[in-house]
Amino acid sequence: MRNNIGVMGHPINHSVSPVFQQAALDYLGNKNIFEKWDVPPKQLEEKIKSFRNDSFIASCVTLPHKQNVIPLIDELSDSAKAIGAVNWIYNKQNKLLGDNTDSTGFIRSLSENYKFSIKNKNALVFGAGGAARAIIFGLIESNVKKIIVSNRNFDKAKIISNELSNNKIKIKPIGFDRDSLANYAPYADIIINTTSLGMSGGPAPMVSPISSELISSNTFGYDIVYSPIITPFIKEFEKSDAEYGTGLSMLLYQGVEGIEKALNVKAPVNVMQKALDAL
Ligand code: ATR
Repeated sequence: MRNNIGVMGHPINHSVSPVFQQAALDYLGNKNIFEKWDVPPKQLEEKIKSFRNDSFIASCVTLPHKQNVIPLIDELSDSAKAIGAVNWIYNKQNKLLGDNTDSTGFIRSLSENYKFSIKNKNALVFGAGGAARAIIFGLIESNVKKIIVSNRNFDKAKIISNELSNNKIKIKPIGFDRDSLANYAPYADIIINTTSLGMSGGPAPMVSPISSELISSNTFGYDIVYSPIITPFIKEFEKSDAEYGTGLSMLLYQGVEGIEKALNVKAPVNVMQKALDAL
C-alpha cells in the first residue's frame, strides 16, 4: 500500500469519498489512487506514524477518529481548533496539519449549490454534538445574525451555546419540545438538522425533529444526513413548499475543500458531483 492519499476510519467500507475523489484525481491527471484505510482505534497511532514520510499527501478522517487524531498530529487549523475535530490531515512541509472542512464545506454547499447566503440570517440548528459544532462554527464565520440551538438534552444545548458564543453572536439554547420550537421555527430563515434523526440505520430512521406546521414556506431546510437523501426532515419541508438542501452536497463540498487544500488545485466540482450522482 502506498499510503499517499486516502480516507481512514473504522468501519470504512461504506465511505463514498474514494469514488468522487478518484474522479477528481483522474480528471486532474494525478496518478495517485485514493485509498480506503480501515484503521481500528488501536492502530491509529501507528497509522499516523506511517504518514510521516515525503510521499504522504493527505488523509480524509472519518468516524471514530475525528477527535482522537488531534494529539497525534502537529498543527491544527482555526476551524479544527474551534470545532475540536479533524476531518482532513495534510502533509505541509513534513508537518501533519489537521483541518476541518465540514464547516466550510457546508457553507460552500449552501452558496454554490443552493445560492443561499448566510449573512444576516436567523438560523435554527437541531443537535448539539460534533456535527452541530462544525455547522455553528461555519454559520458564525459567515456572519449569521442569530443562532438558536434546539437539542433533546437541554444541558448539551446550553454547553455548546456557551462555548461557541462570542462577542459577535450570542447563541440561544432552547428545548426540543413543540412549544419551544413554535416560538422560533416559523421565523427562522434556515433550519439545519445535525441530529441523527432520520438516518437509515440510526436510532430513529422515521423521525423528523420538526413537523411541517412549524415551517414557513420562506424557510430553507438543510439536513446533513445523506442516507437516505430525502430524509423525514426534508419531507416536512416539501410539505411546507419550502426549499431545501441535502447532506450529499455537504459531503461533496467537504471533499472539494479537502482535495483543493491537499493538492493546491481548483477541484473539478462538476466531475466530482457526477461521480456521486452515479452511485
Ligand atoms: P455527531 O458527532 O454526529 O453530532 P453525537 O455527538 O452523538 O453525533 O450527536 C448526536 C445528536 O443527535 C445529539 O444532538 C443527540 O441529542 P442528545 O444530545 O439529546 O443525545 C441527537 N439525537 C440522537 N438521537 C436522538 C433522538 N432519538 N431524539 C432526539 N435527538 C437525538
